[in-house]
Amino acid sequence: MKIAILPGDGIGTEIVAEAVRVLQVLDLRFEMEEAKVGGAAYEAHGHPLPDATLKLAQAADAVLFGAVGDWKYDTLERSLRPEQAILGLRKHLGLFANFRPAICYEQLTHASSLKPELVAGLDILIIRELTGDIYFGQPRGRRTAVDGHFPGALEAFDTMRYSKPEIERIAHVAFQAARKRNKRVTSVDKANVLETFQLWKDVVTEVSAQYPDVALDHMYVDNAAMQLVKAPKKFDVVVTGNMFGDILSDEAAMLTGSIGMLPSASLNANNQGLYEPSHGSAPDIAGKGVANPLATILSAAMMLRFSLQQPEAADRIESAVRAVLASGYRTPDIWSEGTQKVGTREMGDAVVAA
Ligand code: NAI
Ligand code: MG
Repeated sequence: MKIAILPGDGIGTEIVAEAVRVLQVLDLRFEMEEAKVGGAAYEAHGHPLPDATLKLAQAADAVLFGAVGDWKYDTLERSLRPEQAILGLRKHLGLFANFRPAICYEQLTHASSLKPELVAGLDILIIRELTGDIYFGQPRGRRTAVDGHFPGALEAFDTMRYSKPEIERIAHVAFQAARKRNKRVTSVDKANVLETFQLWKDVVTEVSAQYPDVALDHMYVDNAAMQLVKAPKKFDVVVTGNMFGDILSDEAAMLTGSIGMLPSASLNANNQGLYEPSHGSAPDIAGKGVANPLATILSAAMMLRFSLQQPEAADRIESAVRAVLASGYRTPDIWSEGTQKVGTREMGDAVVAA
């Protein structure tokens, strides 16, 4: 098994280093090879996703990714900006299924923006379709309006679209994930207003016939946004399109306390995947040794489970993280009175030891 290690920029290098140390201590047989991506690759090779980096990612069974981006690249033309590297990797690897678990660890219930009793024991999984929807639908652009409320005015337009096979494959992913959990899927749509999401609802319902052991319900996205902050524990697996998933997964992230705790996985049809923390390169704290490495370490656990068929090793990492939190170790983003404030390296050391 081969893992491509792409640390990227900012805190990316600091947090990935800790995840790599955790992987090494597991003593499993896999090869790790590192390459530059994002701003680091632009500095070295003039492009955020050089050919050699893309080839390494394509040849690997899994990619462990840190984060990319920095304000200093804001003036570059769009195609050379660090963030293009993520879009390029998603596209070239065909990563259509984005898994974002939102778990509230017992010791961190106070860090949530909701009351502790609402989030204690929270363990939900948001599955976001990643390659379709209004973010990529054509046509799009700007033009002079010929009709509407203001004919002759400048207008902009995007196209929301999903094909039946695109919906089918993400629905299968959701039902299969639910089978390994509490066997409930909530499909989030806006079928009352949008034709795209009427098709979404119809197709998810059709696919559900193949999973009689999994309960399916449908929810409009506006209601889902409410329920996520009213009674988040009622959800098990939530499956939705690219735009609704973007918004709801960030909302769910806040239930758990810190973005520094949230892993993610993006998978293609061959279970090849890219694993990364849900946060960015945090230029405000980069180089200070204070970033929370747990989101990246937990992403490595997801990688072992989904792409490398090492579920026991994944369990070992996740229990080590729980043990370290129980011992009171906290990076500044999750620190509270009475716990021990540690830096990135010390947190990594603690997980390795556990
Ligand atoms: P961000 O997620 O990097 O930071 C938001 C806030 O959370 C900051 O205050 C930061 O210090 C804090 N934070 C993030 N991760 C943390 C960690 N592990 N431990 C402790 N605190 C943490 O988002 P922001 O500031 O909007 O973007 C910064 C750069 O990252 C931009 O260039 C952006 O484009 C890029 N970005 C990259 C992503 C990726 O590589 N997948 C995703 C999101 C943003
Ligand atoms: Mg987002």
